[in-house]
Amino acid sequence: MSVVVKNLVKVFGNIVAVDSINFSVEKGEIFGLLGPNGAGKTTTMKILCTLLKPTSGDAFVEGYSVRRDPKKVREKLGVVFQESTLDIELTVFENLDLHGRLYGMGINERRSRIDELLELVNLEDYRNVQVKKLSGGMKRKLEVIRGIMHSPDILILDEPTLGLDAATRRTIWRHIEEISEDVTIILSTHYMEEAEKLCDRVAVMRNGKIVALDSPQSLKERIGEEIIVLSFESSDINVERLKAVSDGLTGLATHISLNGNAIEIHVKSASAVLPEVMEVLRTLRDVNVKGVEIRKPTLEDVFITLSGDSTSGDEHGGT
Ligand SMILES: Nc1ncnc2c1ncn2[C@@H]1O[C@H](COP(=O)(O)OP(=O)(O)OP(=O)(O)O)[C@@H](O)[C@H]1O
Ligand SMILES: [Mg+2]
Repeated sequence: MSVVVKNLVKVFGNIVAVDSINFSVEKGEIFGLLGPNGAGKTTTMKILCTLLKPTSGDAFVEGYSVRRDPKKVREKLGVVFQESTLDIELTVFENLDLHGRLYGMGINERRSRIDELLELVNLEDYRNVQVKKLSGGMKRKLEVIRGIMHSPDILILDEPTLGLDAATRRTIWRHIEEISEDVTIILSTHYMEEAEKLCDRVAVMRNGKIVALDSPQSLKERIGEEIIVLSFESSDINVERLKAVSDGLTGLATHISLNGNAIEIHVKSASAVLPEVMEVLRTLRDVNVKGVEIRKPTLEDVFITLSGDSTSGDEHGGT
């Protein structure tokens, strides 16, 4: 195991930012941390890179405890923070070179590594350009390669593509995939597509706790295999109607929710359940269905299901 997190807790005053979480990351894996704002993702990552001390519990990076061996842990890690930490007055080369020096790399090693990394992300032409003259996407690419400048075993990426356009985001995904052949990666993101594309496994955090941990594929399978989307005129649909549909389909749907002017019904097999769905709709007066669509769940659906706006109520029980 590259990273092992054990009963990790972080308390700020009266806020429990990380509430006794456990997970481990295998060598070579891309592991995702998902969750709404304030869920505890950054705090978890900051503890892993020894910038914050755990209140209790511990985390191990390549076997070294963040409590007892923070120096060893830092040697094993590369980090890209949520907020940029580049020196914008320095050039691209200088930012990378400084980082290499901090990690005790020799001059020749630094030179060749910088050449290799700039080529990897197509920034060769910007080598001697001041960072303040780069676009947001270029800066992000530079931060990612700076994170792996000293060839760490583990790379921590806190929202690596925050605020980037769709095309640049994809370019960075490609680079992350290339890098991941040599490095174990832990990343946080709010883009479900990003998690789905990159991550071998994801942990969904909420209020400091991990509420689900699995591969994106298994998480999607867990919430039902297909989704029936019924769209209505906005005036036709409300929570009461949703409740009526939900009651009419008890036992057939795994999850039902309202999404704008549509009811989304998660089922094992849409074609098998569709007649019952239409029957339930017939019993509701003054309701006109504008459209019926059947689609496969995305990680976004998982996320919304786990965020607890369920009408089936079975996500809330237990622990
Ligand atoms: N230094 C701090 N002092 C006090 N409270 C903090 C501190 N850092 C984080 N918190 C609190 O801890 C909780 C978790 O914050 P954290 O930054 O880990 O969330 P996050 O999942 O990274 O959210 P986001 O998606 O917005 O980046 C929040 O309630 C936040 O206000
Ligand atoms: Mg954060």
